[in-house]
Amino acid sequence: MSLRFFVFTIFPDFFECFKNFGIVNKAIKLGKVQIQTINLRDFTEDKHRTVDDVVYGGGPGMLLKPEPIFKAYDYIKTVSKNPYVIITEPWGRKFDQNFAKELSQKEDIVIICGRYEGVDERVKTIVDEEVSIGDFILSGGEPAATVIMDSTIRLLPDVLSEKESLTVDSFSDGLLGYPNYTRPPEFRGMKVPEVLMSGNHKLIALWRRFQQLKKTYEKRPDLLEKANLSVEDKKMLNYIYKGKDFEAYLKGEKID
Ligand SMILES: C[S@@+](CC[C@H](N)C(=O)[O-])C[C@H]1O[C@@H](n2cnc3c(N)ncnc32)[C@H](O)[C@@H]1O
Repeated sequence: MSLRFFVFTIFPDFFECFKNFGIVNKAIKLGKVQIQTINLRDFTEDKHRTVDDVVYGGGPGMLLKPEPIFKAYDYIKTVSKNPYVIITEPWGRKFDQNFAKELSQKEDIVIICGRYEGVDERVKTIVDEEVSIGDFILSGGEPAATVIMDSTIRLLPDVLSEKESLTVDSFSDGLLGYPNYTRPPEFRGMKVPEVLMSGNHKLIALWRRFQQLKKTYEKRPDLLEKANLSVEDKKMLNYIYKGKDFEAYLKGEKID
């Protein structure tokens, strides 16, 4: 079974590059996901294929008209029994890893991409959820749709080759990821931490956990409040709060 995205947009070409590279392209080729762009202009009836109109009551800009969106939705209902409909909106529910996990469990998802000043409010009657990718204004919902689809597709079973890479990603267990290094072992005087070249997997796992906790404490302390922390994690955090390094924790240095 694969996840199907139906993206309502007035710029279908925007998604061609997105579909042709990396993990998303791999997932499409593996049959794990389908991304179908629905050109709203195909659901217009006038000769200019008009998708927008002026705002009632006055004011700047244009709005996406309801008719093409409703007609496109009627079409989707003929190919999907129960599509989950989201619309990109700056005031919507903030997109995050949990949201991506929820979407990765769905079968069919419609993403309505707003443009101009947005969409006619009546469109909201067919929408299950409004989604924001952050507190800033984009010119249209298309970049947000790619963000939403990319992070959801990564979570589909068997899309990433190493299952590992899912569990070490930031946010996968409520913490940020640990720092990584590749060859050479020394570059411009900067050395790879010796522990990573020690071959001692238990020690490496401890070091990585310590670094995850440290990074999360330094960059996103709010995440620690909700994270599922073990007794050992809390012990490491006590060292981190006191500004002590991994070696101090390992030696069991006394801290008050
Ligand atoms: C220029 S914006 C419209 C802004 C809107 N008039 C307002 O007052 O917030 C055009 C479209 O971009 C999309 N958009 C803008 N910012 C977004 C965000 N942070 N997250 C998700 N979608 C966004 C929405 O679909 C929106 O309808």
